[in-house]
Amino acid sequence: MLVLGIESSCDETAAAIINDKKEILGESLLSQKEHEAFGGVVPEIAARAHLEHIDEMIEDTLKMAKVKLEDLDAIAAVGGPGLIGGVVVGAMAGKALSLALNKPLVMVNHLEGHALAPRISNDVEFPYLLLLVSGGHCQILIVKDVGEYERLGTTIDDAAGEAFDKVAKMLCLGYPGGPIIEKMAATGNPDRFVLPRPLLRSGDCNMSFSGLKTAVRKLIESYSEDGSVEHCILNKEVTADICASFQVAVTDCLVKKLENAIEIFKEKYPEGKDVVVSGGVAANSFLRKALKDLSEKHGLIFAAPPLKYCTDNGVMIAWAGLERFRKGLVDDLDFKPRPRWPLDEKAAAQGAKA
Ligand code: KG4
Ligand code: ZN
Repeated sequence: MLVLGIESSCDETAAAIINDKKEILGESLLSQKEHEAFGGVVPEIAARAHLEHIDEMIEDTLKMAKVKLEDLDAIAAVGGPGLIGGVVVGAMAGKALSLALNKPLVMVNHLEGHALAPRISNDVEFPYLLLLVSGGHCQILIVKDVGEYERLGTTIDDAAGEAFDKVAKMLCLGYPGGPIIEKMAATGNPDRFVLPRPLLRSGDCNMSFSGLKTAVRKLIESYSEDGSVEHCILNKEVTADICASFQVAVTDCLVKKLENAIEIFKEKYPEGKDVVVSGGVAANSFLRKALKDLSEKHGLIFAAPPLKYCTDNGVMIAWAGLERFRKGLVDDLDFKPRPRWPLDEKAAAQGAKA
């Protein structure tokens, strides 16, 4: 079984072909650089860049895989959630191929792409516990099956990746912030600044990062002569120490919330064995190590996608498309791309159009 996947929901234009033996036959990905100057993704610029490059990504993928369009069993394309201009580009490309080739269409929820991605590289079985941490989302879910999700907690304000990006912007480090902060943090002292851990003792699985971001802003301002964060006046050592202190604060919050979720998961699903982290922030090695230690402390197996498949990519869309397709979850050409699309929505298991 061969499935082509197309991703375009944020600032990566990507395509991939995967088979049911989990072999990635071809893949191509373009990370849009146009947004760096803005410290965040500009939706219209992203949509135009997707439009310009999507055909080339699909062609390169087919070439690399040595696969002809006729050989594909299904076409999977991102259907949301995300920046709608970009989602429309990928969804339309998928629909056009499906129509022209008369092949089944699977519209994939981008979050389901992240949620199922760890099953490509690891033998992760349902049900499993998932921490999904990206630039736009921050949730803890039980993955009961393809299309069946139970949400245990979510952020009440910023996503964890968004907090990394905003702190990097305040420190004038560039975009995306996560990898740069991780690199700076490696040389910094995480104990130098005591930053808040919002909702740490709330006892539930909800998260909050807005207060932490504000605390970092105040810290930066305290070093600035005119009290602003505009001039990027911090020296390298202070910057590294802020990055390290921030990274450990985010990690403490995520570890505590996942620990609360593990308790619920174990009680509801004593047969469950796996804890999984996915999404762009899952590429953070400091966080991965902390989550691995936590999982092992509770007798669970920890899994995460390889670093390059944590951030957005076409492989996860192709794989989620394949998992849905083999369960018979296909979509019609009238599927409307969705800027919002909660993963735990009831219709998820019945096919995306329902
Ligand atoms: O999953 P993703 O590629 O896009 C969304 O669906 O949002 O995640 C991108 C996010 C960005 O906020 C980026 O700063 C963050 O993931 N990220 C990281 C790391 N690599 C990417 N955050 C922390 N540490 C990293 N190494
Ligand atoms: Zn993503």
